[in-house]
Amino acid sequence: MPDGAPAGGAREQGFFDDHPRFLETSSTSAGVRRLNLRHRALVEANRDVLDGARVLDIASHDGRWSLAALEAGAAHVTGIEARPELVAHAEQTLATYGARQGSYRFVTGDVFAVLADADLDVDVIQCFGFLYHTLRYPEFFSLLRRLEPRHLLMDTRVANVSGRIIQVLVNESTRQAHAAADDYTEGTKTLVGWPSPGALRLMLRTYGFRVEDTYDWEAVGRTVGTKLVGRYQRGERVTWRCRWDGVTAGSADDDVLDDDVLDDEGVDDA
Ligand SMILES: C[S@@+](CC[C@H](N)C(=O)[O-])C[C@H]1O[C@@H](n2cnc3c(N)ncnc32)[C@H](O)[C@@H]1O
Repeated sequence: MPDGAPAGGAREQGFFDDHPRFLETSSTSAGVRRLNLRHRALVEANRDVLDGARVLDIASHDGRWSLAALEAGAAHVTGIEARPELVAHAEQTLATYGARQGSYRFVTGDVFAVLADADLDVDVIQCFGFLYHTLRYPEFFSLLRRLEPRHLLMDTRVANVSGRIIQVLVNESTRQAHAAADDYTEGTKTLVGWPSPGALRLMLRTYGFRVEDTYDWEAVGRTVGTKLVGRYQRGERVTWRCRWDGVTAGSADDDVLDDDVLDDEGVDDA
């Protein structure tokens, strides 16, 4: 019977049943059923690329996806997380669950500041639950591209609209799940965005990332019901596997971007 089966039915166990500390070290979407379903989509479905990989876990939170990557066969994980209490939880939890010393490292700090300084060898980047906590996309993707990863695993909220649109919102840095304060935070408010799928694809492509697989959340929703995965099922959240092919925007063999380059001929009010 699937995870999230109706009350009364036995629920299938998953990664977070085996690692219940994570249910206590976070107040951010820490329901066991949804976390187990995300584990299948984010980690199980990517075992082949995680196996033996050096992984960068962006916004590593309490280490939930760092440990999951190690247990899926990753050789090493570096987590970056701004909130020191979450990093402390991550270190304690990975040690408690017997993750091999030397196979992980957590860096406390703002993702942008850490990546600008870091010298990392990375095969796979996990970007789970972060992209909608920033509006600094060109900076972010150019920092990722510099690492020349093989794969980028992306799980993010999106604006479910057609076209290439970014919906602008404000995050409140006093909330654990929201953007941590960065150089552009005003008081406790940080401007963030939800890109539409079209906008996200174009940004990824511009920096050399091709979407090679989109996780089928609709099928999951049909099995477990919409309550657990409603945002995914409604297309308000996506889980994509991207490959970095190193083809930068505008190079001769890049046909995808040609259609997307703005043609401002005839526009006279610029
Ligand atoms: C919604 S949670 C996602 C947690 C986890 N990655 C997941 O997908 O389940 C967002 C995380 O991003 C972290 N965060 C937000 N802005 C950050 C920044 N600029 N630098 C580093 N971490 C940040 C938050 O502290 C929080 O742990």
